[in-house]
Amino acid sequence: MVRLVVATGNPGKVTEIEEYLVGLPLELELKPEDVEVEEIGETFLANAALKACSVAMATDEWAIGDDSGLEVEVLDGAPGLYSARYGKTDAERIERLLFELGDDLHRQAQFVCALVVARPDGTIAFQAEGVCQGEILRTPRGSNGFGYDPIFYMPNHQMTFAEMAPELKHRVSHRGQAFQLLLPQMHQQFGSGL
Ligand code: IMP
Repeated sequence: MVRLVVATGNPGKVTEIEEYLVGLPLELELKPEDVEVEEIGETFLANAALKACSVAMATDEWAIGDDSGLEVEVLDGAPGLYSARYGKTDAERIERLLFELGDDLHRQAQFVCALVVARPDGTIAFQAEGVCQGEILRTPRGSNGFGYDPIFYMPNHQMTFAEMAPELKHRVSHRGQAFQLLLPQMHQQFGSGL
């Protein structure tokens, strides 16, 4: 088994990433509390790389970093990199976004997720970016998921992320897409463990 440090302080994120990496001979770990990374990158990929590379170097282990957010077209890509900081709670973030969009008929948006895996020496081994297109509803729908899920609607599934079963969201989401791109490279590096 190879140890892979997840560059996050959130145990929920480790569990989620574990589900995507099932079948790989990896032992996932939470980053040490004293290793702090400032998200000062100007893109999702830059932030994911900052997290993965700093944590890999600090621990001398393989590390994975991610960064994600919601980009709304008519808001010039906001909340984007600031998705998590757009309000204090999920409800406040949703309320603010709906207020900013008002009655605008153009409600195209996309979720983006960047993933970076760094080697123990801090160099980037693999990276991938997943994108999921949708529209912002006028009122929230559904109770699954987190964040902006209740207002992010996928017309081809006729559901918001919050109305989807977790397996479906896993498959179609920006995070799911990014892992689908990353997995073949990870299997090549780490083998299947069989
Ligand atoms: P981070 O990638 O942990 O920095 O989080 C980015 C922020 O983007 C989250 O706090 C959410 O507000 C939002 N976000 C990212 N992915 C999703 C998702 O799948 N559903 C809903 N909101 C998301």
